[in-house]
Amino acid sequence: MKKKYVIGVVGASGAVGEEIFKILEEQKFPVAKIVPLASSRSAGKEIEFQGQTYQILETTDDIFQKENIEIAFFSAGSSVSARYAPSAVKAGAVVIDNTSHFRMEEDIPLVVPEVNPDDIKQWHKKGIIANPNCSTIQMVHVLSPLHKMFEIQRVDVSTYQAVSGAGKKGMEELVMQMQAFFAFKLEEAEAVAFPHRIALNVIPHIDVFMPNDYTKEEMKMIYETNKIMHSNFAVSATCVRVPVLRSHSEALTITFKNIVSAKDAQKILSESPNVVLADEPHSKIYPMPMLAADTDQTYVGRIREDHFDKHILHLWCVADQIRVGAATNAVRIAQKWIEFQESE
Ligand code: A2P
Repeated sequence: MKKKYVIGVVGASGAVGEEIFKILEEQKFPVAKIVPLASSRSAGKEIEFQGQTYQILETTDDIFQKENIEIAFFSAGSSVSARYAPSAVKAGAVVIDNTSHFRMEEDIPLVVPEVNPDDIKQWHKKGIIANPNCSTIQMVHVLSPLHKMFEIQRVDVSTYQAVSGAGKKGMEELVMQMQAFFAFKLEEAEAVAFPHRIALNVIPHIDVFMPNDYTKEEMKMIYETNKIMHSNFAVSATCVRVPVLRSHSEALTITFKNIVSAKDAQKILSESPNVVLADEPHSKIYPMPMLAADTDQTYVGRIREDHFDKHILHLWCVADQIRVGAATNAVRIAQKWIEFQESE
């Protein structure tokens, strides 16, 4: 009989944590027991998993050992990962961390299973596998197959990021501000999760500004892309928050070393894992958040050759940020990790 695993989820009451439980259920993940963990605020609350009720426990240093956790998903923010991931590793668990805390550390693999699954084999160096930034995951789903074929030299990306990227509080803030709008009280609506009101607005500011005037989110896309793809091409990003509940969209301009055709790119992407080609613009078929939400695929369309340069393609991609950009990628990492463990 196949081994089943004790799974801990730190951030069990959050947007990504809740989605991880759903995906573990949907994927019939080999779960012996789940241990939902959060802060003392949510301790004692109940969650349902496979028809059973589990109580959320407080995250502490000894909980991982006490509950014999073997796979620990972390999605409670960087400071929580920094504080408790070492305790989980010490207790013998593999940590799959959804925050940016460990992503650029040398001995910590940063993995998108469709792109660099073998990097998971480095997990034992620190006991941690990092899950990339949500905007980066969907972008490398598209870039990786094109890079293999035409060799990328430069990527310019503009993102249109949903409020789900800021967790439940981000989604609640948009809904509350829209309610305020319909009550003619929008001017009174407070901005807490975002630097400005997000309802009926777009904000070119995600995460903090760095000394070079890029935001941290933009720099994450630059550094993480090359780490995952083992490449060193140029990337420039402009990250923008838009009033969409879930699913990030991205406009990409990709410059290749070789001459490209939109037709070849369409064929390659239509055959790529977990990528769906939606590219019949004259029939109004192209990726949109309303199509991608609640799915596990990255949708790509509007693939066009540049008007002036045969080495450049433009395209548009969309993926559910909570699933593809976080929970699904984390569960896919765990599945691959198990596959490697069991083949050793
Ligand atoms: P809690 O409900 O106890 O605050 P989101 O990204 O949707 O905002 O969710 C954040 C998640 O991180 C929640 O599950 C939240 O739990 C959890 N969290 C926040 N602070 C801590 C902490 N200090 N220890 C453990 N979990 C935490």
